[in-house]
Amino acid sequence: MAEHVNPLRDPTDRRLPRIAGPCSLILFGVTGDLAKKKLIPAVYDLANRGLLPPGFALVGFARADFKDSSFADMIKQAAQDGARTPWSETVWKQLAAGIRFVPGEFDDDDAWDRLADTMKDLDEQQGTGGNHAFYLSIPPGLFPVVVSQIKKHGLAESSKGWRRVVIEKPFGHDLASAVELNRMVGDVFSRESVFRIDHYLGKETVQNILAFRFANGMFEPIWNNHYVDHVQITMAEDIGIGSRAGYYDSIGAARDVIQNHLLQLMALIAMEEPVSFNASSLRLEKQKILANARPPARMDLHTAQAQYVAGWAGGEKVRGYLEEDGVHEDSRAETYAAIRVDVSTRRWAGVPFYLRTGKRLGRRVTEVAVVFKRAPHQPFNKNDVEELGQNALVMRIQPDEGVTLRFGAKVPGTTMEIRDVNMDFAYGGAFVESSPEAYERLILDVLLGDPPLFPQHEEVELSWKILDPVIAHWKQDKDIDTYQAGTWGPPSADAMMARDGRTWRRP
Ligand code: BG6
Repeated sequence: MAEHVNPLRDPTDRRLPRIAGPCSLILFGVTGDLAKKKLIPAVYDLANRGLLPPGFALVGFARADFKDSSFADMIKQAAQDGARTPWSETVWKQLAAGIRFVPGEFDDDDAWDRLADTMKDLDEQQGTGGNHAFYLSIPPGLFPVVVSQIKKHGLAESSKGWRRVVIEKPFGHDLASAVELNRMVGDVFSRESVFRIDHYLGKETVQNILAFRFANGMFEPIWNNHYVDHVQITMAEDIGIGSRAGYYDSIGAARDVIQNHLLQLMALIAMEEPVSFNASSLRLEKQKILANARPPARMDLHTAQAQYVAGWAGGEKVRGYLEEDGVHEDSRAETYAAIRVDVSTRRWAGVPFYLRTGKRLGRRVTEVAVVFKRAPHQPFNKNDVEELGQNALVMRIQPDEGVTLRFGAKVPGTTMEIRDVNMDFAYGGAFVESSPEAYERLILDVLLGDPPLFPQHEEVELSWKILDPVIAHWKQDKDIDTYQAGTWGPPSADAMMARDGRTWRRP
């Protein structure tokens, strides 16, 4: 399949703005939350930053009853509500010229014929060059019908231009379903044409983990089990499930974010240095970690799951999970999950990775804390170091993006009292450029065909292999533990750490 190449652009020169070539983005699920809040604003921001070509089209395909013009109004509203960059009528007019809507059910062949005709017209009139990206922002139950219709109507094949498919998580709900999903998609699209979105990989601060580790010489020598005691990866949210019960209640916290975001973060922290940052080298190193990572055999001792009950958020009283709209009254879905993962490699043997996530926790924060072993000998009085914790390097993914190093320093005074202090790097203070939204970066990469930030099916399957036994173990529990909204999770999560002689950080 011919890739669009701009002959004036040296692909190895990262200083040039990366501008997409002519193409169209076909959005399935265009009336959904994700499309309105993230995808459409990201497309507008890309256009506003001059990163989309004049020959660009945005096509919506849904059951809704829009005319092209009322569809464009909906897109405009979503862009105005969610865009990060200032509103520009000129940019909007250019974008609006390529906006189309195709109404229809996903299993309606006539609707797909209309879609095919629309794409053909756009290629001719709008100059989209036969390059089409199909973005599936739809419930996973609808993937099979959409993918098979793409195939049946010949939309995945082309003698002119490229065809790509973009899949939003969840990639299956366990290993077996993920294998099946990958097989089905692989039957229609070549490996290089499948882009699986894990939006955490589009975050600047997640990519900074690689810069931090591999652009600097001073951390590598201590990045191993001689110096690191353990690693804590936290993704805490203060929000509840909002209007997402339909999705969340059958999934729970571990499938929602540990299987993807948190295991990806773990792989980036633990992997060996790739020989280069091309997609295959990067994925290979991540895969080696995921292939050698396992929860300990005693899952009753080393995992925790719980559901929030009524409590407080931002000074307001909030209801418990079971009282949320759309949640089954006897739901067992966990809204908090914590697991220990052991990575059996020479570098990491004996260093546990603790992963935790939860809704309605004390505050919103995502961070990776690498906690170091204590100095082998401390020539101080016991009282002088009483308040000294372990050294830690904390990568703050969000909010307050940055890096903190925690170490001991002498308290001013006539005694040798030592206490923890922090040395801080804050993104906002060091760079004037603001970070693009994760979806901006990822959509641009899809349109450019740039794959390093998209997990391949091996990573997805290996991640399920880690999580499946934990979920199977949790299924045997008769009751689910609880925690009060606004706190930092259930006592069982603290007990899990205490067994290992450790405590969770209070971010
Ligand atoms: C999504 C999860 O992948 O990530 C949501 O499905 C979660 O449950 C969201 O709220 C959090 O994303 P972010 O970028 O706000 O950390």
